[in-house]
Amino acid sequence: MVAAALIPVVERSQERLFPEGVSLVTRSDRSDDSELFPEELRAIARATPARQREFALGRCCAREALALLGGPRVAIPVGRFRDPVWPFGYVGSIAHCQGFCAVAVARTLPASGCPTIRGLGLDSEMAVSLPEELIGIVCSAKECIWLASRQGDGLPWDRLFFCAKKSAYKCLFPTTHHFLEFRDMAVRFDAEHSSFDVTLPSRYGSPSHLAGCYLIQNRLVLSATTWVQEPDCP
Ligand SMILES: CC(C)(COP(=O)(O)OP(=O)(O)OC[C@H]1O[C@@H](n2cnc3c(N)ncnc32)[C@H](O)[C@@H]1OP(=O)(O)O)[C@@H](O)C(=O)NCCC(=O)NCCS
Repeated sequence: MVAAALIPVVERSQERLFPEGVSLVTRSDRSDDSELFPEELRAIARATPARQREFALGRCCAREALALLGGPRVAIPVGRFRDPVWPFGYVGSIAHCQGFCAVAVARTLPASGCPTIRGLGLDSEMAVSLPEELIGIVCSAKECIWLASRQGDGLPWDRLFFCAKKSAYKCLFPTTHHFLEFRDMAVRFDAEHSSFDVTLPSRYGSPSHLAGCYLIQNRLVLSATTWVQEPDCP
């Protein structure tokens, strides 16, 4: 119920969550395993039935998102670190939460007028506070001070830090293959515009920042991060 209720909200917000040229597909229904390619079926064969349904729903949304961009109908294999392996020329991200699934896909060679996108990250979470013991793992001392300043405004900002950082990680990993801890990333929220900026550690090189947006609706949080190609310095 929660998941289904979020879908129209996400669809209306599509333009705000991602730049032009990104396709976003959301679903909360069940799909069956026959939708999967043999290598996908093999990758998920030993999982529980619930996880198999979740995985199949993600692949189903991913193929729909690719098709919206004129992309091929192909398998999306599971990478060594669970990362979805997109067909050549495409990047994307998959998020699951409580039966809700969202998938964003973009071309890496965009249509004219669209930005060059190197990565996309999506994450969704229940809009509830993080368990106390996780806050210090997810947030830096500076972020904890900011959290304290927002206490009482009714929003689960600690969960938003978690969600924003996960979406940043998913955005970067399939291209960079660099592992990041939560506290390697510094997030600054702009509550007025429901957006955030992620600063990456200097050892990371490029990119130094990622831009993101979030939505909180019907007890779910959704964060969307985009890695836009930084223009070459003159
Ligand atoms: C990427 C990660 C954060 C996702 O967490 P999660 O709780 O599984 O999140 P969700 O259920 O919303 O998303 C799962 C989807 O993320 C995608 N994903 C998984 N690992 C990924 C990775 N390394 N890079 C990019 N996307 C990844 C997959 O598409 C997966 O769905 P699928 O298995 O059905 O294809 C987690 O799997 C991980 O690798 N953690 C280790 C790194 C870490 O925690 N660093 C701390 C900062 S994030």
